[in-house]
Amino acid sequence: MDIKNISQAVIGRLPRYYRYLGELKDEGVERISSQELSKEMHVTASQIRQDFNHFGGFGQQGYGYNTEYLYNEIGKILGLDQKHNMILVGAGNLGSALVRYMNFRNRGFFFKAAFDINEALYGKQIAGITVYPLDSIADYIRENEIDIAVLTIPKAGAVKIAEVLSTCPIKAIWNFAHTDLELPERIQVENVHLSDSLMRLSYEIRRYEEESSVKTPKKPTHRK
Ligand code: NAI
Repeated sequence: MDIKNISQAVIGRLPRYYRYLGELKDEGVERISSQELSKEMHVTASQIRQDFNHFGGFGQQGYGYNTEYLYNEIGKILGLDQKHNMILVGAGNLGSALVRYMNFRNRGFFFKAAFDINEALYGKQIAGITVYPLDSIADYIRENEIDIAVLTIPKAGAVKIAEVLSTCPIKAIWNFAHTDLELPERIQVENVHLSDSLMRLSYEIRRYEEESSVKTPKKPTHRK
């Protein structure tokens, strides 16, 4: 299967398919048609078929899709059939919340250690992982086969950390710091901006309010 030329739009839909199929699998649903999948997921059946055709289809005429098979295949495409070791950089509010969120483990993502510049945190535990001094990060990565560094630090420190991480054998950075990072091609980056999601939500509120005020114009007020 050649997954190099698949559009980002298709890749962007795969986690949602994966999550939904996982729920169906857990409920004991053995097979599902593209029409049923379409109804539940609010994506057209033809979109679903087109998406899955990129990966060889997975479906059988008259049968639909085998839920567990499809779930496992999409998982493989997303690389979720492999375990990923992660470290946290910045053991503050956001970082601690991520470490405590146990569902990442169920997807194969394991936090192994945290690093910080605040001496008061050294040796402290967050959900069973230890916080270490930042200057031990490179050695730790080399000795513990870490794949992903999760950056939950202010923008100011992120560029410097990225320089250090560039010299380490990590594969990816999950970047919550509000800045773009310069990294070698071998290191993949996913930038996360929760505030962008909130701004989109704010736009949707506004759009809905404007549309509904056009549909139901306000009654004119009559002056006495
Ligand atoms: P916080 O102040 O609770 O934690 C930050 C931690 O990072 C502290 O423990 C601090 O000692 C440590 N730190 C600072 N510079 C460091 C460095 N160079 N190396 C290692 N550790 C360092 O802050 P909080 O709320 O956890 O937020 C962390 C950052 O994440 C903030 O800068 C914020 O802008 C960003 N953020 C991003 C979001 C997003 O959606 N991308 C959402 C929320 C926060």
